[in-house]
Amino acid sequence: MIDDAVGLLGRTAVRTLRGIPVVGRLLGAAPSFDVEGRVLFITGAARGLGAEIARQAHARGAHVALVGRRMAPLQELADDLGERAAAFEADVTDSDKLQDAADAVVARFGGIDVVIANAGIAPPSDTIATIDPAAFERTVEVDLLGQWRTVRAALPAVIERQGHVVMVGSVYAFFNGVLAASYAVSKAGVEQLARTLRVELAQHGVSVGYAYLGFIDTDLATEVFADDHVGAVRQAIPGFLTRPMTVQAAAAAVLSGVDRRAARISAPGWVAPMLATRSLTTAVMDDVLMHNSGVTGAIRTAEALRAKEVVERAGVTDR
Ligand SMILES: NC(=O)c1ccc[n+]([C@@H]2O[C@H](COP(=O)([O-])OP(=O)(O)OC[C@H]3O[C@@H](n4cnc5c(N)ncnc54)[C@H](OP(=O)(O)O)[C@@H]3O)[C@@H](O)[C@H]2O)c1
Repeated sequence: MIDDAVGLLGRTAVRTLRGIPVVGRLLGAAPSFDVEGRVLFITGAARGLGAEIARQAHARGAHVALVGRRMAPLQELADDLGERAAAFEADVTDSDKLQDAADAVVARFGGIDVVIANAGIAPPSDTIATIDPAAFERTVEVDLLGQWRTVRAALPAVIERQGHVVMVGSVYAFFNGVLAASYAVSKAGVEQLARTLRVELAQHGVSVGYAYLGFIDTDLATEVFADDHVGAVRQAIPGFLTRPMTVQAAAAAVLSGVDRRAARISAPGWVAPMLATRSLTTAVMDDVLMHNSGVTGAIRTAEALRAKEVVERAGVTDR
């Protein structure tokens, strides 16, 4: 028992020290998990981050299983990549379809080394009081439960290969979820899933990482930024927090986490220090947002807009 605790502390210390320049080099290279020749099961691979992870991993010699809800774009990407790529249809809200996809990937490629739970959606920008309950619950269904279902379906195969799991999360795991609560709730929940899995799977030789990503230049961010309320919040907070990174940089960060079997992946560069000091940054952030007139104005406008829509809908129903 004491031996186990000392061993764990020692491994944790070595991992931490490896991250420090110069000192880290003295400790030698971290265990490497090169994707070349490995099988990656990637959800939401039709476009955005999932598609870019698939492209980069494939270019490095991986077999990529492109999983998603629309077969046509997945197949188009698979055809484009050629050998070592195949498309599999599965909506992450459907456990049976995900299990069928995982089984089909094992049949096609012989196993699964890495699962990248990536599929996700963004909710409409509304407050908790005014959001359509169906929209709130749909986000949790896809972004939280979809990731749980993905991992659950692929897990037996990943355990067999002593592989690696990546939960694609967001800085919203610890950022305030103002006007995006269902998204933040999901990303925070997924962080807990990843941490729990990391402990539960260690004895099977499986590692688990959570990706704390800032905004990425994909359709998801474009749609979120098109919303007027989000525009008002962006005006009110420092610009670097919402400046999107390229999808190439985000995908490279995720794959570098796979290479290192990293527990935490973060990008862009400002995320790591905020994460390390999160009890301070979250307390300051909540307080600043509460008292920022741009943010309170955006909340008021969002509420007023929904109230107007409800009145208009009621008018249409009465006629
Ligand atoms: N963009 C950002 O700023 C940002 C920042 C941090 C984290 N992330 C996370 O990164 C991940 C990828 O997002 P992205 O920016 O690449 O978004 P995106 O460009 O909108 O792509 C999302 C992908 O997920 C798929 N998807 C959505 N719902 C699905 C479902 N029910 N079943 C299966 N697939 C589904 C979409 O399929 P269709 O093509 O069929 O719609 C699409 O391929 C998400 O988890 C997101 O939360 C994004």
